[in-house]
Amino acid sequence: MSTTGKVIKCRAAIAYEFNKPLVVEEIEVAPPKDHEIRVKVVASGICHTDEHALSGGMASLNFPVILGHEGAGIVESVGKGVIKVKPGDHVILLCSPMCMKCKACLHENSNFCEKNDVGKNVGFMLDKTSRFSIKGKMIHHFMTTSTFSEYTVVDEFAICRIDKDAPLDQVCLIGCGFSTGFGTVMNTAKVKPGTSCVIFGLGGIGMSAVMACKISGATKIIGVDINPDKFPKAKELGCTDCVNPKDCKKPIDQIITEMTNGGADYGFECIGKVDVMESMIKSTNYAYGSANIIGVPIFTDRLCLDVMYLLTGRSLQGAFLGDYKACLDFPGLVSDVMSRKIDLGALVTSRLSLDKINEGFELIRGGKAVRTVVMLGKQ
Ligand code: APR
Ligand code: ZN
Repeated sequence: MSTTGKVIKCRAAIAYEFNKPLVVEEIEVAPPKDHEIRVKVVASGICHTDEHALSGGMASLNFPVILGHEGAGIVESVGKGVIKVKPGDHVILLCSPMCMKCKACLHENSNFCEKNDVGKNVGFMLDKTSRFSIKGKMIHHFMTTSTFSEYTVVDEFAICRIDKDAPLDQVCLIGCGFSTGFGTVMNTAKVKPGTSCVIFGLGGIGMSAVMACKISGATKIIGVDINPDKFPKAKELGCTDCVNPKDCKKPIDQIITEMTNGGADYGFECIGKVDVMESMIKSTNYAYGSANIIGVPIFTDRLCLDVMYLLTGRSLQGAFLGDYKACLDFPGLVSDVMSRKIDLGALVTSRLSLDKINEGFELIRGGKAVRTVVMLGKQ
């Protein structure tokens, strides 16, 4: 029986307040309005940004809310005027949508659309209403995606059609974590062959950065993490060395400077801690190092630096989603996964059903996961 035009009842993980487990319940998902699309979510990664929001690390978050922003699925139905996709198409949902009209979208070096909900977390569709409810009470959207639901509704600018043969339980990671780590190395830092790189934090984002450093031909790739259980996987993906700062008698930046004979060519912070950001900057070569911030700190934290770190010739930059223009660049990344240039499967350390989603959050809190993927439906 067709569900087009009807309210769909399905299960979703709802966040009701900060730092409380998500509650899996039956919700109502309204049909898409004009220029909107309803999607059956098949798989969604759990990213540290979901935990960051749930733990109060972002400037605002409106409850109740359906989190999740790293998802892939199949179009169930489309509203009037939709031209990008049709029912049955396979898609990645975009937490970094692009309207392609604002100044940021039109700038060749930006992907940070004025109309995205990143950090603002207003939690509505573009028309300022929600398509989710529970027993008639409104639930907020999250980062234009809300992928911890068996069905979600997104505006047309928050979707990207991909090849139907792509494994959705892997390419969902392109929606955020993989692209963020991989793209910052490829597009922002533009790592050159024969260079040295240091990556702080070996979660899904750091491991994706490691993969990109290897593909770029870096010859020394140092992974830094306080959880040594991450080291075998990091070496498998490309790290030549791994260091646990807890085992070091000297500050970690001194250790890295010695290991790279004067400081790494490139540094990447993939955790979101300002003290580690400073260590990462100091670990790069004082005269020409490229320091790159990827991790998102608690919104009240401030990075306070000795300006001499930069005046001697280092560069410092940040990137959002690895500087990819998601709507244009994701199909190419999906092709690279399908041709096995990129092994996304290596990043998935566990798969869980929606009922077990809180176990996935525990893994993230303990720094234990590379990526946990929540399986919501069938491909
Ligand atoms: N020094 C070194 N490693 C650390 C430290 C530290 N002080 N603190 C935490 N780590 C390690 C953890 O052990 C874990 O392996 O950092 C890793 C972080 O991985 P995840 O929690 O899986 O985070 P991830 O999803 O990769 O996101 C990292 O990027 O986009 C942002 O919001 C995201 O800020 C987060 C960051
Ligand atoms: Zn825009």
